[in-house]
Amino acid sequence: MKKVRKAVIPAAGLGTRFLPATKALPKEMLPIVNKPTIQYIVEEAVKAGIEDIIIVTGKGKRAIEDHFDIAYELEQNLIQKKKFDLLEKVREPSKIDIHYIRQKSPKGLGHAVWCARKFIGDEPFAVLLGDDIVQAEKPCIQQMAEQYEKTGHSVIGIKEVPYSETYRYGIIDPESQEGRLFHVKKFVEKPESNPPSNMAIIGRYILTPEIFDFLEKKEIGAGGEIQLTDAIQKLNELQGVDAYQFEGKRFDVGQVLGFVLTNIEMALQNEDLRDDVLEGIEKILHENKLSLK
Ligand code: G1P
Repeated sequence: MKKVRKAVIPAAGLGTRFLPATKALPKEMLPIVNKPTIQYIVEEAVKAGIEDIIIVTGKGKRAIEDHFDIAYELEQNLIQKKKFDLLEKVREPSKIDIHYIRQKSPKGLGHAVWCARKFIGDEPFAVLLGDDIVQAEKPCIQQMAEQYEKTGHSVIGIKEVPYSETYRYGIIDPESQEGRLFHVKKFVEKPESNPPSNMAIIGRYILTPEIFDFLEKKEIGAGGEIQLTDAIQKLNELQGVDAYQFEGKRFDVGQVLGFVLTNIEMALQNEDLRDDVLEGIEKILHENKLSLK
């Protein structure tokens, strides 16, 4: 079995849920506390032992490349001011080598992944979406790569969501379950009604390269876009694709409410900030005559 060595991080989306913030700023650069969301994703891949990362960018996404590059002037400035702790924070992202390709028009997630086909070649690979941050003892994508290495089947990360939210996700129709692993009858993208379950695709995938044969067909799916989920269903019919209920806490940073709550929760997780944030929240509640019920 080939090892999972490469990862694709699609970052070409228009970020419409965050307008106007994302008019001139890539949504992937919106910070959770003091780190852009995409850095959490890249760090998960690196921690999981992924050797090569490609980010699929698009128009207006330059800031992502700059973020993972060396910032000479800023570094010199911090050295002169002897701000070595900040210097380390600035250098951290530039230590990772990242490849880039541009998706020339926004045709959907399936098309964004297809743009990376030449970089991936004929081996299994990971896909990590920036809308989901996962905190886990063992990186989520590593848990899934280990599953792939046992069976040779593609593995799709899933979590339970409320039925009222199934319309926002790819949803599985489960066939059978062994612990955290599900065999799947069908993968359905954003069902408008009668979802086959409430097990939703969260943005982590291990895919075999045969997925490109289906993405190549560029069939249009839900929302008028080329959907990765539709290609996954075709791949499921060909060689079996499993779903894996990974361990860890998932933060939904792809929509405004989840983004705000993630910022609060991660700030509360940070020992240097916790007490001041709690005090700040109490003050805000008091000043606005609000209370926690
Ligand atoms: C994408 C996928 C969907 C998945 C979701 C997870 O949708 O198409 O299957 O459930 O990511 O975040 P998007 O949120 O990009 O519309």
